[in-house]
This record gives sequence, C-alpha cells and structure tokens, in this order.
Amino acid sequence: MAEPLISPSSGLVNTQTPFASCFKPQLNTHSILPFKPITSSSFRYKCPILNQIQTIAPSNLKSNRWSLQGMTALVTGGTRGIGRAIVEELAGLGASVHTCSRNENELDKCLVEWKSLGFEVSGSICDVSIRAQRESLMEKVSSLFDCKLNIIVNNVGTNIRKSMVDLTAEEVSTLLATNFESVFNLCQLAYPLLKASGLGSVVFTSSVSGFVSLKSMSLQGATKGGAINQLTRNLACEWAKDNIRSNAVAPWYIRTSMVEQVLSNKDYLEEVYSRTPLQRLGDPTEVSSLVAFLCMPASSYITGQIICVDGGMSVNGFYPKDY
Ligand SMILES: NC(=O)c1ccc[n+]([C@@H]2O[C@H](COP(=O)([O-])OP(=O)(O)OC[C@H]3O[C@@H](n4cnc5c(N)ncnc54)[C@H](OP(=O)(O)O)[C@@H]3O)[C@@H](O)[C@H]2O)c1
Repeated sequence: MAEPLISPSSGLVNTQTPFASCFKPQLNTHSILPFKPITSSSFRYKCPILNQIQTIAPSNLKSNRWSLQGMTALVTGGTRGIGRAIVEELAGLGASVHTCSRNENELDKCLVEWKSLGFEVSGSICDVSIRAQRESLMEKVSSLFDCKLNIIVNNVGTNIRKSMVDLTAEEVSTLLATNFESVFNLCQLAYPLLKASGLGSVVFTSSVSGFVSLKSMSLQGATKGGAINQLTRNLACEWAKDNIRSNAVAPWYIRTSMVEQVLSNKDYLEEVYSRTPLQRLGDPTEVSSLVAFLCMPASSYITGQIICVDGGMSVNGFYPKDY
C-alpha cells in the first residue's frame, strides 16, 4: 500500500510516495489536448490520480506552505550581515537553526541574544575555508539533527577588491577556497542529511557580480557567476530525484560589515545610488525573506533559479535624468 502523501506529524510531503511516478504519465495529457489551453481545473478533471492527490493534500499543505515549523537548517556565517538576518528569519519561521563563524565572542553574544528572543539556534566555531573544520561542523549538525537536514544556506563568501593582474597567488587561493571550494564540499557533506530529511533545500548566496561585470571583482564575479550559479543549476537537476531543491540569491549592495568601508566613500555611494533604479542600498532582511521563501513548501516547484535582490541594478539600461 502506498504511504500517505502527507506525514501526519509534520504535514510535509513524504517523498517515499510514488508521487513522481503518478505525476509524470499525467503530464502526457498535454498531447491529447493540443490546441486547448489547459487550466488547472480542466487539467485536474482529466487526471483522476491528480484529483486524488489534491484531495489528500490541501488542508495540510495549506497550513504549512508559508512555515518552516519542524525543519532543521544550517546557515554558514550567521553572526553578521546577511547570514545573521537569514538565521533570524528561518528561526522566526519555526526552524531549528545551526550556524557557524570564526569569532567565538561574537558567536556567543549572538547565541545569548537569540535565546532571549526564543529562537532555537545553536552555533559552532568553524572556518569554512578549512576542510577539517567543515567535516567537524557537519558531524555536529548530524548529531544535533538526528542525521537529517532540511536546509543548508551557503552564505559565507568574501571579496578582495583588486584588478585581476594584481591578485596574489595567496589571495586567489583564499577567494577560491572561501567562495567556492568550501561551498562545494559543504554540499557534498550535507547531501546524505538532506536526502534523509525527505524534503531538502539548498540556498546559495551569489551576487550580481555573477551577472554583470563590476570593477575590481573579476575573480569574485567568477566564483559567484561561473561557479556558484552553475552549481545551483547542476544540483537542481542532480538532486531533484531526492526531493532536494537548489536555488541562489544574488544581492547587489546590502548594508553589511563587508561593504562598510567601500560605501563610506560618499562619491562611491552616490554612484551606487545612481546605478540602482530603487536608488538605495538593500537591507539584509530583504535578502533573508527571499531565502526563507525558497526554503518553504510554498516554493516547492522552484529549483535551479538564481534570483537577484538588487533594487533593479542588474536590469538597468539607459535612463538619462533630464530626457
Ligand atoms: N553585502 C553585500 O553587499 C553583498 C553583495 C553581494 C553578495 N554578498 C554575499 O553575501 C554573503 C554574506 O555577505 P555579508 O555582506 O553579509 O558579509 P559580512 O557582513 O562580512 O558577514 C560575513 C559572516 O560570515 C562569517 N564568515 C566570514 N568568513 C568566514 C569563514 N571563512 N568561515 C566561517 N564564517 C565566516 C562572518 O563571521 P566571522 O568573520 O566571525 O567568521 C560573518 O558572520 C557573502 O557570500 C557575500 O559574497 C554580499
């Protein structure tokens, strides 16, 4: 007998069901209705199995579509900036979150604050650019969450602003290890846990530098656009069979410690505003809300996407002020 679609305790879709095999043949109904637009109701009418699925699912799905209740999450680099906003967003929506960073005092301070807010957050000291530390981090996550993980947010990333010929060998290694190798390996380590959860979501923190060229950011842009964005798409396809989705968020200037120094230059800041249709910087919470959405059942058909959070910067064309 088929297992129920919805697990009674969590209300989440149970991937042990033959959902995929039920659904695929029904899609062929397109071929018998070649010229008729297929509305969702007419499509369902032609699909007895779909009807059955949808009568089992709605009440539970509806109540959990916009929630992360009962889910487990790892967010790297959660003590400042975008990572911190993501930790708070996910925990506020009901997830149990583990995070990491390199500075122990800062992490301890955050953990105390999160506890006082009633968030279920734990933390480890870990430099994600070091393999052995990544392995210990994932062992900790595995033991904390009973070998299951619903969400991994690969947030840590860095930047060294220099023209490409001036980057030293050491700087190139640091950028590659922090922005790509660490992320790739953390995904490898997280895979068995994500799979075991039955409902996995990987979110990468990319950048608009992965879409358009930005001054002094050739290598950083390559790690985000060439590496992270393509990994997002590959994992979406490679892990779909395990019910693991993979998406990325790509911010433009967000007010965090990483960009504090460059934005302290007034002329530079003015240039940033003038290049941004919304004419302002972003707030970390404007990224974390998208990350949360990408982890929820509400976004269950979205995978392999890289979504810009950029006030319109990446689609800006030519809009001269006085014409
Ligand atoms: N801010 C922007 O305008 C912007 C724009 C585009 C993309 N992004 C991307 O967004 C992500 C977050 O940026 P952010 O601006 O929020 O950075 P941030 O303010 O510098 O915060 C970085 C966080 O990551 C931790 N971290 C840094 N390196 C780490 C490492 N090797 N191992 C473990 N933890 C580490 C930091 O804590 P410790 O220093 O204590 O380790 C901190 O908690 C990055 O991937 C960045 O490329 C940011």
